[in-house]
Amino acid sequence: MTFVVTDNCIKCKYTDCVEVCPVDCFYEGPNFLVIDPDECIDCALCEPECPAEAIFSEDELPPGQEKYIEINAELAGKWENITEKKDPLPDAAEWDGKPDKFQYLEK
Ligand code: SF4
Ligand code: F3S
Repeated sequence: MTFVVTDNCIKCKYTDCVEVCPVDCFYEGPNFLVIDPDECIDCALCEPECPAEAIFSEDELPPGQEKYIEINAELAGKWENITEKKDPLPDAAEWDGKPDKFQYLEK
């Protein structure tokens, strides 16, 4: 079991999540973070920390978010590890809550 970063993180990237992860399993791309499913210990600490409410357990994903299971697994193997909070993206507040941001995901 793993937790999964989903659509609403894209173009926000608040990074509050990385501070609480006991196993440092977040990986950072240009405008999105992912969780490495092989490293996540399913502790659930990150889920309430995300201001964009973008993190879910893989068995409680909202409808339409299922594709992010594979996206997290794929990109965790490509991106750099992130362990400290940084500033969110400049337009995070504006993009928070916008639907279907997958089209803007930069890999
Ligand atoms: Fe890290 Fe726990 Fe979140 Fe998994 S559920 S990403 S181990 S904080
Ligand atoms: Fe993204 Fe939320 Fe973390 S917006 S970077 S999953 S705090």
